[in-house]
Amino acid sequence: MSQRNRALLGWLVVVAAGVTLLAARGASPAGAQSEALTAAQRERAATVYAVQCATCHGADARGGVVPGTDDPVPALAGNPDVTVPYLDLVMRVGRMPPPENDPYDNRARNVVIGDTDRLLVVEYLAEQFDIPGLIPVPIGGDAARGREVFATNCAQCHGSTGAGGVAGAGAWTPPVAGKGAIAIAEAIRVGPFQMPAFSPEQIPAEQVADVAAFLQEVDEDAGTPVTGLIELNPVYASGLAAIFVLAIVLSLLWIAGRPSWFPDPAGQHRRGTQPDAPVGATMADQETRS
Ligand code: HEC
Ligand code: HEC
Repeated sequence: MSQRNRALLGWLVVVAAGVTLLAARGASPAGAQSEALTAAQRERAATVYAVQCATCHGADARGGVVPGTDDPVPALAGNPDVTVPYLDLVMRVGRMPPPENDPYDNRARNVVIGDTDRLLVVEYLAEQFDIPGLIPVPIGGDAARGREVFATNCAQCHGSTGAGGVAGAGAWTPPVAGKGAIAIAEAIRVGPFQMPAFSPEQIPAEQVADVAAFLQEVDEDAGTPVTGLIELNPVYASGLAAIFVLAIVLSLLWIAGRPSWFPDPAGQHRRGTQPDAPVGATMADQETRS
């Protein structure tokens, strides 16, 4: 099965889960509405959406343009890419709302919506526009196995320790260590923006948890992100290598015949001791005096 077909299958599973959930909600006599948001919560969510999202995505969430420009903004309603975990992810990591002057710049991260408001907005949009999917529930994982899963599937873009950074040719990936297990699980299945999505066939749920455990462990080790960045950035790496080689060459020169432009430590030492009389003479003088 090709990567694309697998991703499609993954989506079918997600959509099927969403449809089942909606069907279950509809079947309950109380109805979906009463189970989800209270009137006050819905009002709060609508206000947050109006202030933080509607200027670009439209009051009806059908997309539009960035105000004052012709730059297109994708729809959130009726957009097959947009799911509950995608909505949660973009607000959780601060990718949305973006800076007004450059909403396409994927380097900006600014979390402006708190946990409570975020969950309200997600639930509100899901309810209003039948957006499918669920926010994943984190389970415990094994960091050692996660390291391997990450090395195989993620390191080529995010660096071996998830430090992110300049991936070459103008491409940029965000740091992922320290983003939390839920954001990791969401991103793996969603494939936000330029990132590919991974289906449960490619990365099963236990491996998603393993990756989250690995990234958690990396985040707790303060030293590693720097190494990750150097690994990922060939300019830094070659600069460091050049300094290292220069240091070795200079040490070898020093050992095997000092060049004339090198200071002579032995000479300096002699100059420093020259005024003193030889040790033996001093001893003799002292003896004569006593
Ligand atoms: C300043 C304008 C602006 C605001 C405000 C804004 N967005 Fe966006 N949004 C964009 C643009 C532009 C894109 C497409 C970016 C890209 O493709 O790089 C986008 C993309 C998205 C996507 C991905 C859609 C897809 O098809 O992949 C989601 C989800 C999203 N926005 C949700 C939100 C939510 C939720 C809010 C409010 C909390 C919000 N946005 C606020 C401009 C905005
Ligand atoms: C082909 C390159 C690529 C691969 C492979 C990849 N990612 Fe990503 N990932 C990206 C890019 C690019 C973004 C940022 C998308 C955006 O916001 O525009 C991203 C975003 C993320 C985010 C959201 C962080 C944030 O601040 O927006 C997480 C979490 C993440 N990736 C985890 C992973 C994990 C775990 C894997 C491996 C299973 C992986 N990625 C594989 C390129 C990749």
